[in-house]
Amino acid sequence: MRLKNVKGSREAIAAHPGVIHDPEAHKGSWKDVFGNNNPVRLEIGCGKGRFLTDLSRENRDINYVGVEKYSSVLIRALEKLDEEDVNIFFMRMDAENICDCFAEDEVDRLYLNFSDPWPKDRHAKRRLESRQFLARYDRILKKDGLIEFKTDNRLLFDFAVEEVAESPFEIAEITYDLHHDEKMMQGNVMTEYEEKFSSMGNPIFKYILRRKS
Ligand SMILES: C[S@@+](CC[C@H](N)C(=O)[O-])C[C@H]1O[C@@H](n2cnc3c(N)ncnc32)[C@H](O)[C@@H]1O
Repeated sequence: MRLKNVKGSREAIAAHPGVIHDPEAHKGSWKDVFGNNNPVRLEIGCGKGRFLTDLSRENRDINYVGVEKYSSVLIRALEKLDEEDVNIFFMRMDAENICDCFAEDEVDRLYLNFSDPWPKDRHAKRRLESRQFLARYDRILKKDGLIEFKTDNRLLFDFAVEEVAESPFEIAEITYDLHHDEKMMQGNVMTEYEEKFSSMGNPIFKYILRRKS
């Protein structure tokens, strides 16, 4: 993704109450951050935050955390929050370090939406659907937790499907045309990228993973 530097975004993020600044300090105690025992769901690479913000407003009894690497993007997510958004936080970090922030079984569900493709083979392990990332998710996800991934990038999706075989997960559901799949579309919340690429006529691919039975 090409990034425009947003002046002042670092400072604005540093002062924003919707940001967790020391995520490692909350490993194993996210229930204290939210003040309840509700399930915690993560979006990795949340970008400008539309998906997670909308989802959190539809499900006030679920807690959400958005993870984004860049301040210039995260600032757009924070601009969407208001004072009623008490079941959602964001953190600016590289998801490579996600296991430093959540304990075993602490995450109920993981969302990956329109992840960066990293087209060069030598960068495959940076893809958020790689076996290396799936191994990280395995460490923090509940035993019956799910991973949901959607994209319009066929090469990335094919890679993601192949990587599942090298992981502790299996495909529970899959579609190669989400927007025409009545069952998998139920409750679908659009992301910024999904809106853009589906309006161009691109099919959207989606899988849901569960642990191997
Ligand atoms: C193509 S955008 C998609 C944004 C959003 N999920 C959507 O569907 O509209 C991918 C986002 O993932 C973020 N990202 C990529 N790798 C990441 C990583 N290792 N840790 C955290 N964020 C990452 C990028 O900075 C970017 O904002």
